[in-house]
Amino acid sequence: MSHLIDEFKANNKAVGFVPTMGALHNGHLSLVEKGLSENDVVVVSIFVNPTQFDNKEDLIKYPRTLDADVKLLKTVSTDKVIVYAPSVEDIYNDDVQSQSFKFDGLENEMEGAFRDGHFDGVGTIVKRLFEIVIPNRAYFGEKDFQQLQIIKKLVELYHIPVKVIGCPIHRAKDGLAMSSRNTRLSEEHRNAAPFIYKILKTAKTKFGTKSAKKVKEWVEKQFNKQPLLELEYFIIADTKTLKPVKRKSTKKTYRAFIAVYAGDIRLIDNIALN
Ligand code: PAJ
Repeated sequence: MSHLIDEFKANNKAVGFVPTMGALHNGHLSLVEKGLSENDVVVVSIFVNPTQFDNKEDLIKYPRTLDADVKLLKTVSTDKVIVYAPSVEDIYNDDVQSQSFKFDGLENEMEGAFRDGHFDGVGTIVKRLFEIVIPNRAYFGEKDFQQLQIIKKLVELYHIPVKVIGCPIHRAKDGLAMSSRNTRLSEEHRNAAPFIYKILKTAKTKFGTKSAKKVKEWVEKQFNKQPLLELEYFIIADTKTLKPVKRKSTKKTYRAFIAVYAGDIRLIDNIALN
């Protein structure tokens, strides 16, 4: 990888980067396509990063489909996409541990509060991958909006010379946000899951006239009536600080964030509110 990168840099080629954990779907591909439109080559890393999993079972069962991933990437480009799929040893040697980060409090909200050590793991791997790939631009999905904000903060804090670009959420026809974990849903849970986006869209409409508290109460009520989906959190937060809204201000932008268990599969989604 380093040899290739040296060569690209020597030839003044712009390097785009899409870090992933594999089990690629159209959401990932939309990032790769955006990268290809703005760079000479795009590096796609495929690495199931052990340090960002708080749930051991989730790490073990995370889908690993490298051959299918490579095949899918070839449908986008046969010569401008480079797949980098390191082993755990390549990245961590024998010390599989996270560095500890402070991201101005962004790391304490939502996913940070519910998934212990998650963003230390994400920060550690993305910083390491940035050192290896030295990209000009890196692409992250708004599907993981908090992660996107944290990576922007990481780059700022460590003065990493990369432009971080956020990309819109890619959805299945029925509205479910695409995710590698969707393949692990039972048929019954897969059929129930589009409810999440349906509720987010109605919450957005309600937020136009109602308080955040009222919207939250309404959402919680809807999930109480839905036996197949268990709401972990629904939070309306300030887009910049990710702190839960107390009093709506017309000067600020807000997003609604949701985490739901469909059986033992944890799904997240979010929507811009104003
Ligand atoms: P992973 O879940 O594989 O996602 C890789 C990238 O694809 C992330 O930036 C994610 O936000 C984006 N993505 C996933 N589903 C998407 C969708 N439906 N629409 C748009 N973008 C989508 O996020 C990770 O991996 C890891 O935390 C990683 C950054 C690779 C660090 O290990």
